[in-house]
Amino acid sequence: MNEQIQEIKKSFSSGLSRVKSLEALQKIRVSLLGKKGKITLLLKKLTTLDGSKRKEVGKKINDLKSHIENKLLEKENILKEKESKKALSESTIDITLPGRPQNVGTIHPLTQTEKMIIDVFQSMGFSVAEGPEVETDYYNFEALNFPRDHPARDMQDTFFVEGDLLLRTHTSTVQIRTMEQKAPPIRIVSPGKVYRCDDIDATHSPIFHQVEGLCVGPDIHFQHFKGTVEAFIANIFGKDTKVRFRPSFFPFTEPSAEVDIMGPDGWLEIMGCGMVDPNVFENVGKKWKDRGEENPYDPDKISGFAFGMGVERIAMLLHQVNDMRLFYENDIRFLKQFGK
Ligand code: PHE
Repeated sequence: MNEQIQEIKKSFSSGLSRVKSLEALQKIRVSLLGKKGKITLLLKKLTTLDGSKRKEVGKKINDLKSHIENKLLEKENILKEKESKKALSESTIDITLPGRPQNVGTIHPLTQTEKMIIDVFQSMGFSVAEGPEVETDYYNFEALNFPRDHPARDMQDTFFVEGDLLLRTHTSTVQIRTMEQKAPPIRIVSPGKVYRCDDIDATHSPIFHQVEGLCVGPDIHFQHFKGTVEAFIANIFGKDTKVRFRPSFFPFTEPSAEVDIMGPDGWLEIMGCGMVDPNVFENVGKKWKDRGEENPYDPDKISGFAFGMGVERIAMLLHQVNDMRLFYENDIRFLKQFGK
């Protein structure tokens, strides 16, 4: 056995000096220390020796084993370092290459405009309210004083969904929804999408955006309304902008008006508005009474004004865009100009 030990030691050191890879090193490890490795087998054989002989040879084998383990570890570290150096030198990074540009998006001009409008009204104490886009006939027409078969319903081409449901044609629905839930005083603006059966052209789209406004209280009169609208226009279009209130008609306001501003080529309409029609207060009052609550919307004690404007229209005027379709096509070259 002594000879075998010497033999193993010799062939191990000559084998080790020839090893050039971690795989080859692992092979040597297995051939000596593995389950059927030479050292393992020797250790098994020990049981055939007796007493003192077994002790003496056992020590020699164990010495050899730890000698081999140390050498293997040493070699392994050397090989690992060589390999990582090689990998590093093969994958050089060229720090002179230009970086990849990061494209940062910008806020859509319609969103920017909507936010501008809301900001102005918020600074005057209005808060934001929202309502659903799929509505019932009641909120879109009935409660807003459009009687059934009233010709005013023809003013708006409606997308009907099924039964009583339709896509709202204006954000005035939110006036009713708000007043049904909350007693005056009320000061809200309500932004959102509205839908009309229109063909697409430079100034029409079947989907567009409105911002509705509603202010209701015990002593709100036309002058509050005029002052609010004028302050809004001064803020958005500049304080020297000329404003005109032109008589108009909406079933849910009385009197009604349309507001025009002076543009480079003449008057341009920017919103519909008016004093809330007493019939609208009657309709929301009924809801309060049906719930068994005291009605806070007695038309003799309460008044208010409402307005509604198209966001696309305001954005077109602000940025001198003459075709609404540009807002929906999302051509990056167009959108980039509004980068913020
Ligand atoms: N809802 C009207 C429209 O879409 C605008 C409007 C709102 C008019 C509020 C008066 C009061 O044309």
